[in-house]
Amino acid sequence: MREWIAILDYGSQYTQLIARRIRERHVYSEIVPCGISVAELKARAPAGIILSGGPNSVFAEGAPGIDPGILGLGLPVLGICYGMQLMSQTLGGAVEPGTRREYGKTRLRVKAPCALFEGLADELDVWMSHGDRVTAIPEGFAPTAVSANCPFAAMADVSRRLYGIQFHPEVVHTEHGMEMLANFVFHICGCRGDWQLASWAEDTIARLRREIGNEEVVLGLSGGVDSSVAAVLLSRAIGPRLHCIFVDNGLLRAGEATAVEDAFRARFSLDLRVAHAAPRFYAALKGVSDPETKRKIIGREFIAVFAEEARRIGPCRFLAQGTIYPDVIESSSPLKGPSHTIKSHHNVGGLPPDLKFELVEPLRELFKDEVRAVGRVLGIPDAFIDRQPFPGPGLGVRILGEVTEEKADILREADWRVQEEVRKLPWYGRIWQTFAVLLPVRSVGVMGDQRTYEYTCVIRSVDSVDAMTADWTRLPHETLAAISSRIINEVRGINRVVYDISSKPPATIEWE
Ligand code: XMP
Repeated sequence: MREWIAILDYGSQYTQLIARRIRERHVYSEIVPCGISVAELKARAPAGIILSGGPNSVFAEGAPGIDPGILGLGLPVLGICYGMQLMSQTLGGAVEPGTRREYGKTRLRVKAPCALFEGLADELDVWMSHGDRVTAIPEGFAPTAVSANCPFAAMADVSRRLYGIQFHPEVVHTEHGMEMLANFVFHICGCRGDWQLASWAEDTIARLRREIGNEEVVLGLSGGVDSSVAAVLLSRAIGPRLHCIFVDNGLLRAGEATAVEDAFRARFSLDLRVAHAAPRFYAALKGVSDPETKRKIIGREFIAVFAEEARRIGPCRFLAQGTIYPDVIESSSPLKGPSHTIKSHHNVGGLPPDLKFELVEPLRELFKDEVRAVGRVLGIPDAFIDRQPFPGPGLGVRILGEVTEEKADILREADWRVQEEVRKLPWYGRIWQTFAVLLPVRSVGVMGDQRTYEYTCVIRSVDSVDAMTADWTRLPHETLAAISSRIINEVRGINRVVYDISSKPPATIEWE
């Protein structure tokens, strides 16, 4: 059985970070719902358990608790913030509502030797974020550290291997937080740290082969990182029984369909069916300018085209999707948690009732950069791995107002030049997204002796870590100049180029 650390999720915004930090040290970790039963946890045999922080007060009505049996399993447990308070309350200590919230950087003084702080200084800056605090620790525990506001900033019961800390070791503001987690995982839980993505890929391929058996699988390949990696993993597992569908909706970037065909059909011998459906999308979008309606139409047509192709393939039991871990966590609650790799699911994403699939989601366990690493292990070209995100509705949300084939062609031409110029920057890899947007606004210009009356093109480039917030990229003036000059001189239909200098919030990254 693989070595792993269970993280019981009490809803902290940092829970994912705990999982990340531990995986970075090559120990697999997984977030499980805090309501998990003792029996299930025992059956899955983690090497240790972490109770995450959470936004609740242990006194709040309906505040999530812990099955005391979990603390009695004999496994090492580390309670962080809310997790520590819960541990205290459950084992007979005392927690009191604090008169002052302690938030931000705090000086921690280590008072007694503790395996968690092994190798670290006696005084450290740590990150706190709590209202309640532990005022009496349970029997068997010893206080190990204090802060100005916390007589019990850390506690330990060495014989039962139970540890509590009031601060967050997983955030970068905590000095040596990573070492504390490593101390817990390696010294207290005794993990070896031999989890590697390459072996994850091999194990997953073997598991998919076993679970799928002789059945057929259909997958919507978009050319994005997630669906590409999912496709190659599955293809390694079941070969020609994987059928990929790529929908050309007429709203793709220049050369996109060909690039996907070349990369995946030739290199990985995938059964890749390209549905050339552009005319159908343009027809459905005719006369529509409301952004939400456009998105709905594009989504609806995609499903219709996908369904037609899927029917052509014949009976398939499974539908594969490139769902990744953050998607799973986002759509699951701390109490219920994420579910497993294969689950039965009917009417996926609005598919017609005659197409019933069970879902296969081979990347459900992985973070985005882990997906990229697996992609590299599988030999997917960097051009696909390092790709900037591209929205499902494609150029449809970058052509403001009514979408027509003519406008899509103009925007493709402009966007292509933006991509070429921006890729010349040595720090291109640090940019989140760069693209062109076509406004339905015409303005007057002059070219040679001719007066022109053409469209306006917006260049949008943003830096971001997670797309939740973003700032406009400080593109060099030379790059902007080259983009502008190439578009105006080479693309028919555009005579003005502007640069979008809005941050998110309040603006969004896409224009629609
Ligand atoms: P916004 O415009 O909301 O975009 O700031 C945030 C990120 O999400 C991408 N995006 C989408 N991706 N389907 C997608 O797959 C969509 O409908 C969609 N809309 C926006 C956008 O490109 C940015 O990276």
